[in-house]
Amino acid sequence: MPHSHTHTHTKRSHRALLARIPPRGQSAWKLAHSHPVPSALEDHQVLIETSYVALNPFDWQGVAFKYGIGEEAKVMGRDGAGVIVGLGDKVKRFQLGDRVWFCANSSVSGTGAFQEYSVHSDSEIGHTPDHLSCQEAATLGTGLITAGVALFRTLGLPLESLALPRTEEHGSKIEEGEKPWMLIWGGAGITGVYLIELARLLGYRVICSASPTNHAYVRSLGADVVLDRWSDPVQLVQEIRKATNDSVRIAIDNVGGTTANLCHQVLQGSSSWRSEHNLPSTETDSTPAKLVPIAGTPKASPDDSDAIRTVESLRISFSTTFYGHPEFSEALVDTYESLLNKKLLTPARIRLVQGGLTGIEKGLEDLRHGRVPGGYKLVARLSDTPHLDEALSKQGQSHEVEEAVVKVGTKRSRDQVESVQEKTQKRGREHEEISRKRTKEERSVEHDHEAHSETPTRAVIMA
Ligand SMILES: NC(=O)c1ccc[n+]([C@@H]2O[C@H](COP(=O)([O-])OP(=O)(O)OC[C@H]3O[C@@H](n4cnc5c(N)ncnc54)[C@H](OP(=O)(O)O)[C@@H]3O)[C@@H](O)[C@H]2O)c1
Repeated sequence: MPHSHTHTHTKRSHRALLARIPPRGQSAWKLAHSHPVPSALEDHQVLIETSYVALNPFDWQGVAFKYGIGEEAKVMGRDGAGVIVGLGDKVKRFQLGDRVWFCANSSVSGTGAFQEYSVHSDSEIGHTPDHLSCQEAATLGTGLITAGVALFRTLGLPLESLALPRTEEHGSKIEEGEKPWMLIWGGAGITGVYLIELARLLGYRVICSASPTNHAYVRSLGADVVLDRWSDPVQLVQEIRKATNDSVRIAIDNVGGTTANLCHQVLQGSSSWRSEHNLPSTETDSTPAKLVPIAGTPKASPDDSDAIRTVESLRISFSTTFYGHPEFSEALVDTYESLLNKKLLTPARIRLVQGGLTGIEKGLEDLRHGRVPGGYKLVARLSDTPHLDEALSKQGQSHEVEEAVVKVGTKRSRDQVESVQEKTQKRGREHEEISRKRTKEERSVEHDHEAHSETPTRAVIMA
């Protein structure tokens, strides 16, 4: 239960992008200019003033397939970064003014990312390292946490081994050619980007698929072998067997049921392919190969008459591993913090959508229709959201403004927040300046990227 003396924010209402199952013909999304700021914090919660949010496929999928939303409007969104402006009584890992990133449990409206202030559990957020802008930190959330849940919970790999140098295991050096393979289908998706980086750190060789325009990028993240995702699927499976000597025992699919099926085929191995290539048709290791289909389960079990291994398909779950599981979530975000500080993890590339919260609906449409090039995360700057008077003068019509239901904060917490706001405004301006410079650099990189695009069907979103 919330404590009566926990922090309550001075700002009573804020801007929030609400979603609901819409009446026929209407948009599911609506910007509320006067939505109540979540006001009471539990012991282990923090209040974050968000400066950037990032867009996920989940955000449009939830609306399109009606999961996670109902007829009552709520705040969606999972990824963001900002500054802590309120602390629950028992929060130890953070202080007011800390810059942080999050992967929100958007089943709760007060936690949803698409609003200016949101409440989060202190064990599920990470510090933003000094060398990263909030814009970059906003790209980490779902991609990085999904990769962590898949690797360290679903597959059960040891999180501690991320702390070891990548060439060593139990003190002995592993030669590059002896490292096991990990197949990542959809290497240039945001989850793929973080999976590649982590798999390399864990001592795997990585084989993945991506559009040719992204091959250099995914190689730069550490992928050893990159295949053209547009090739014939039968040929792709054969190419993977060839590149890995038919030895892949772990695969993660980030695309959907059809490609999960291809991963399954790869994992089964092929005795006929092996006999053609003079390899033994059995393996000493009889444990099943492991498939993590994060974006859709295989449609049907492939024919296993030629298989040399059984395949275990494992379900990924945030609710049973990450949300509400501080012993794991805290260890994961702390490990990430250390890797980010050492620059062993690099955030995904960024594309800024226009209009802040008002640009999210279009951004999600672009994501849905495959118009965002791989390895780019769409990010919205909340301060770009037009204020109500601007919106009204643009539209020339009156708007219904939501009534804010407000809880008045204590004097102590108001003072606390005001002093943080002064300090963080200054820091915010500094980081904003860094962000602007970086966005400019990103844009020039994007232009190169577009000029060399080999995938003509890809429309390009202007930042
Ligand atoms: N179950 C969970 O908890 C969970 C968690 C996170 C994500 N997901 C789901 O996983 C999926 C991926 O999420 P994300 O955020 O990583 O997506 P994303 O960044 O939007 O991925 C898009 C990229 O995927 C690549 N791609 C698409 N089709 C492909 C294919 N046939 N073969 C290879 N690559 C392909 C494309 O790369 P190129 O540009 O190189 O073609 C595209 O740019 C989504 O459906 C998401 O909802 C599920």
